[in-house]
Amino acid sequence: MFNNLTPGHLLRFLVWAIFGLTGAFVVEHFLLGQAIPYLSLWLFACLVLALLFLIYRKLVINFNVQNQLVRDSFAQVSPLQYLHQVLPLRKALPSMRGYVASPDFLAILADLVLTKKTKTIVECGSGVSTIVNAYLLEKLNAGGHIYSLDNDAHYAGITRDNIAYHDLSDWATIVHAPIQGFALGEATWKWYATDFLKNLPTSIDLIVVDGPPSTLQKNARYPALPLLFDRLSPNACIIVDDCNRSEDKASVERWLKEYPDFSAQWYFTEKGTYVLTRN
Ligand SMILES: C[S@@+](CC[C@H](N)C(=O)[O-])C[C@H]1O[C@@H](n2cnc3c(N)ncnc32)[C@H](O)[C@@H]1O
Repeated sequence: MFNNLTPGHLLRFLVWAIFGLTGAFVVEHFLLGQAIPYLSLWLFACLVLALLFLIYRKLVINFNVQNQLVRDSFAQVSPLQYLHQVLPLRKALPSMRGYVASPDFLAILADLVLTKKTKTIVECGSGVSTIVNAYLLEKLNAGGHIYSLDNDAHYAGITRDNIAYHDLSDWATIVHAPIQGFALGEATWKWYATDFLKNLPTSIDLIVVDGPPSTLQKNARYPALPLLFDRLSPNACIIVDDCNRSEDKASVERWLKEYPDFSAQWYFTEKGTYVLTRN
């Protein structure tokens, strides 16, 4: 409640306070005939104290929110510098964070791709992470390729344009994959259309899980592993963003139960990251 306190709320509070005080004063002075309006003076003091308390709370809450924002932003500086050091960037990267992956997630992704010398990447949810992956594959120069899925034609188009702008089209294919229904066990799940798998020349070394949108269904990212498992290479890895959200964490926990040859490492990033590797 205090967090949403606006100048409009304070103005309304003051108008009601003035009405109340005037009413109390009129009753005391004219109807009861008191010379000194003790009641309205006492009410006035209480209202001033209440007002000061509300303003103080509002300032403290705003200060804490701003303080946390500064800390969160500063935590992204070092991974961002690291990305600029390892990527052979030709153009500036688009803005990160929010819907887009954060630098701390992308730095872990960069380490994974470079140390494992990843070749074939399937990414769920295109964007800045696609550009980063394509630069990494170019740097490795080992014939790797990223297939980045996007259920939304508009965002698929934006990523495709960005890939062309960075001159990375040889390393990345953006697949507009509308959402479809899939039967998995007893249940029907929604996930990206898997037609792209027909054109995949090799097995998948890395799955980047940053989509589909969580609004699609409960545990929206769960189908990734059951639907792609048969196409994974023996040393395949999976990196999952947004695991601070309980549903995405639950999807990873379910994978670990259903696919015991995977183990997971947790990273305290802005949105929470899991990296799964095959034992
Ligand atoms: C979490 S985003 C994927 C982000 C991507 N991996 C990146 O690093 O930029 C998942 C999906 O949200 C959609 N999306 C991307 N940017 C968006 C935005 N600014 N607002 C709403 N939806 C967005 C796209 O369809 C995308 O596939």
